[in-house]
Formats: sequence, C-alpha cells, structure tokens
Amino acid sequence: MGSALWNPFANMASLDGNAVTMVRGEGSWVFDDHGRAYLDAIASLWYCNVGHGRAELAEAAAAQMRQLAGFQAFESFSSPPAEALARRVAALAPMPGAKVFLTPGGGSDAVDTAAKLARSYWRAMGQESKQVTIARQHAYHGMNAYGTSLGGIPANTVPFVPLVSLVEHVAWDDAAALEKTIVNLGAANVAAFFCEPVIGAGGVYPPPEGYLASVREICRRHDVLFVADEVITGFGRTGAWLASERFALDPDLITTAKGLSSGYAPIGAVIVSARVAEPFWRPGSQEMFRHGYTYSAHPASCAVALANLGLVEREQLVARVAGLEPVLAAALAPLAGHEMVGEVRAGTGLLAAVEIAEDVRAADPGIGQRLVAAIRDRGVITRLLRGVALQVSPPFVITEDEIGQIAEVFTAAFDTVTS
Ligand SMILES: Cc1ncc(COP(=O)(O)O)c(C=O)c1O
Repeated sequence: MGSALWNPFANMASLDGNAVTMVRGEGSWVFDDHGRAYLDAIASLWYCNVGHGRAELAEAAAAQMRQLAGFQAFESFSSPPAEALARRVAALAPMPGAKVFLTPGGGSDAVDTAAKLARSYWRAMGQESKQVTIARQHAYHGMNAYGTSLGGIPANTVPFVPLVSLVEHVAWDDAAALEKTIVNLGAANVAAFFCEPVIGAGGVYPPPEGYLASVREICRRHDVLFVADEVITGFGRTGAWLASERFALDPDLITTAKGLSSGYAPIGAVIVSARVAEPFWRPGSQEMFRHGYTYSAHPASCAVALANLGLVEREQLVARVAGLEPVLAAALAPLAGHEMVGEVRAGTGLLAAVEIAEDVRAADPGIGQRLVAAIRDRGVITRLLRGVALQVSPPFVITEDEIGQIAEVFTAAFDTVTS
C-alpha cells in the first residue's frame, strides 16, 4: 500500500511505501517499526541535543497543556512560559539587554523574522535605503521565502527563481569579498549580513582562522547589521551556550531554533540586541514590528523549551560537548587517510562531516547516497550534505564508545561500498 505522506527533500516516486518508520527513541538511539535499533549520529536534524525519550519534557508539555495549551501573543497577550523563556534566552545570550521574538515553526521562521526585522530597524532609524541582505556561498538559512533566497546551495535556490530581491552572495571564506560587495552596493543600501558561525547543511565548515573576527569588524565599520544564524550552533552544539560567545561575535541579531527545545516541540527565537530593539521599545516610540505568527510564543512549546534548557543546564551538557569535541575529532581523524575521503572537518563541538573525495564523486555520482544506505544498514543514521559530505552531529548525551562506533561503521562502509 502506498503512502499519503509527502516527505520533504525526497523523490516520492522511489520512496513511496519504502520509508523507514521510526517509532521510539532513547538516548542516542532510535528504533523502527521492526524493532531495529539505529545510533542517531545526526540528532535527527541537528536538534535532539538532550537525546531521545526524555519523559520530563513530555511532562512539561502535558502540564502546560492541561493549564492552557495555547493562547495567542499578538498585540497585548502573554503567558508565564513565554515570559520565562524570553527572560531565560535573553540571559543566555552574550548581548546585554537583549529582547526575544519567539517564532513557531523552527529556524526558517526565525530567519525570515530576522531579515524583516533588520529592514524594519533601518526604516525606523530613518535609513530606508538600507534594504540589501548579504549571505554566503554554501549557506543554509531555511526554506521560507527569505531563507531560500539567502541560501547559498544552488540546488535549493535555482528551482525557485526569481527569489526575494535585494539579496547578494559572497564566498564563504573570504572576508575581503564581503567588504568589496558592501562597498560596491554602497553601505547606505545594505541592511544585514547573515552568517552561520559554523556552516552546517552546506557541509559543516568551521570558520577559517580569523574569518569571523574580520567579517564582524567589516560589518561594524560599514554599519551593516551582523546576524548570526545559530539555528544549528545555538544552545550548546559548539561547546558554548551560543557560538556567538565562543567566537566573540557580539551580533546584532541571533536566529535560533532546534536546540532551544531539542525538537520536543517546534519553536524558534530571534535574539535581538539592545541596539536593534531600541527604536521599537524606546518610551514614546510609535514603531511597531508588523510581523508574527499564530503560534508565536506558543505556551506549550515555550514550556517544553524551558524544561529543555533546564535539563541542559542541570546535566551540564554544554560542558559535556566541550569535553567530547576532541574525542569526536580524534575518532574521525583516521578516516581522512582513506582513499575515498577528501577531508574530515571536525573540531567545533559535536559538529563534523566526512567529505567524499571529489574524484570519487565525479566518477560515481550515486556514491554518497549508497554510503548513507550502507551506514544505515550497519545501524547508524547519517545523511549526505550538499551531495558531498556525511553529517555527524550526535546528541550531547552520546558516549565515547558510541562515538567510536560511528567512526567504525563509517570506515566499514567506505571499505565495502560498491557501485
Ligand atoms: C543555519 C540554519 N538556519 C535555518 C534553518 C531552518 O530551520 P528549520 O528547518 O527549523 O525551519 C536551518 C535548518 O537546518 C539551519 O541549519
């Protein structure tokens, strides 16, 4: 019997009826409907930081739902979990006096919110011409209209042209290229630069030495807002609560989602610096950010996110990530010597990728997906990033033995994968 479920990023003609049906999870493991166990090397989609099966998060949702499951936050309404979560997230951010705009659907909503807020800020400051947003090659900023347009992965953007206008792209690793683009456009026309501190879905690229400090300084000098897209890196994945703290970014806006709730409820947050908030919050201001979603600041999602952050703190999982950073890098390092591997990128928290050698990919374009399948057949879940690299981003609760298991299974798959 065929399925009625249309999967994201899937060829339904071949998948129909053949999906792997996951029914249960515990720690770093998930189980399918045949009872088969898989080590989740990617924390679902980079989000299940506290691991699967955390009953206390289910209980937080149930308790809030019994009390008041949902109520809107448009115009003048609020709820205790929304207020508490905003305070908590603002306090975690390395930005004094931050405000928090909660989004319902995850990172894509946060990115589109941040892009609109950046432009609204300049309008409120009387600088209407500052409208262009700049992003990087290999960037992934979600699948809403602005995020798709800011994306730097052609396969995701080309089918949808024309995209949102006034968006420019620069090389992922070249700060001088950013400055040149700002100068060519005229700084008076540029609203913001969107930057993943560690590029994620584009293939896991940690920032080149000095790159982030340079682009931050360039944005400051040209009065361009710096937006750190921390949808993946936020809430612990790089071994700091926020990568903005690890890399001393002092951003104007931070977009987050995923690790905010570890995926136990869909929710995101835009963390807004005091500078960007000021024209909207200043006593007597008539400015309004005319933006929001039905489920912005959804009480049940906020309660789950609060409980999740409490759990991360209580179990000291951010420090655990910092401790596991060299363990993961050392476990994957030998793969770099494999003839089919081009590069191993690791060393920023629990974020890594194993890139398939370019000549191997060129000679055999299907090799990446066959490796993903071979790895899954051996009981480990990974996925192919931008057609070039295998993702490793496990839950923070992963053990050193389980990290070793991921490396072993990857090696075995590379050793045996055939055409
Ligand atoms: C850096 C970044 N921004 C935005 C998004 C979009 O988030 P979502 O898929 O939750 O909408 C993602 C998703 O992976 C991401 O990695």
